[in-house]
Amino acid sequence: MAPTLNAASESWNEGEKEATPYPSPNALAHVVLRTTPDRYEDMIDFYVRLLKATVTCRGPVITFLRYDYEHHRIAIVSAPEVVRGQEGAVRAGLDHVSFAYKTLTDLARTYVGLRSLENPIKPIWTVNHGPTTSLYYRDPDRNKIELQVDNFDRPEDANEFMGGQYYESNPIGSDFDVDEWAKYILEKAKPDGSEGLTQVEEKALKKRIEVGDRRQLPEVYF
Ligand SMILES: [Fe+2]
Repeated sequence: MAPTLNAASESWNEGEKEATPYPSPNALAHVVLRTTPDRYEDMIDFYVRLLKATVTCRGPVITFLRYDYEHHRIAIVSAPEVVRGQEGAVRAGLDHVSFAYKTLTDLARTYVGLRSLENPIKPIWTVNHGPTTSLYYRDPDRNKIELQVDNFDRPEDANEFMGGQYYESNPIGSDFDVDEWAKYILEKAKPDGSEGLTQVEEKALKKRIEVGDRRQLPEVYF
């Protein structure tokens, strides 16, 4: 009998993984979002502003956005066949996509910049997950986008935290007051906008405040 996916993944041990003759990807390259024609322009506009992106190629059916070396990180596709998701329904599918920033100051500047736009973009949830400090946004189609900073300098420390008891009892995180957080960080930023926090301040801000058991996502998440 062929193994089910679960059985296969459970039986996948490190030794087998080493022995398999195919590589893992080098990078996660891009995400393509599908929308209805009436939301097409709003979706493009949202992602241009959220990610401070540039349009690589704009067409009536697909638009590609970039913000770094990759020709596109996000693309928006629209077609008359696309129907809007049912209001209030939480359907199975992609939950969210996350973009990482280098420093807390970069993330705080992004938060304040988006909040200060003529049509402000504000997060729906701000949480220290433990491994990341994260701001969650919704696009015009209600897809969630996370903007994050890694809380650990070394991946092995993040892995250790995520394998530890605190994460086991609370894989959701501790919510924080984003206005207070951004004010504190930006008051210390250098005049050119670069990171002004000392290493001690940065470490203290990134450390998750433990709130005990938490296994439910908040209502705003759905
Ligand atoms: Fe995430």
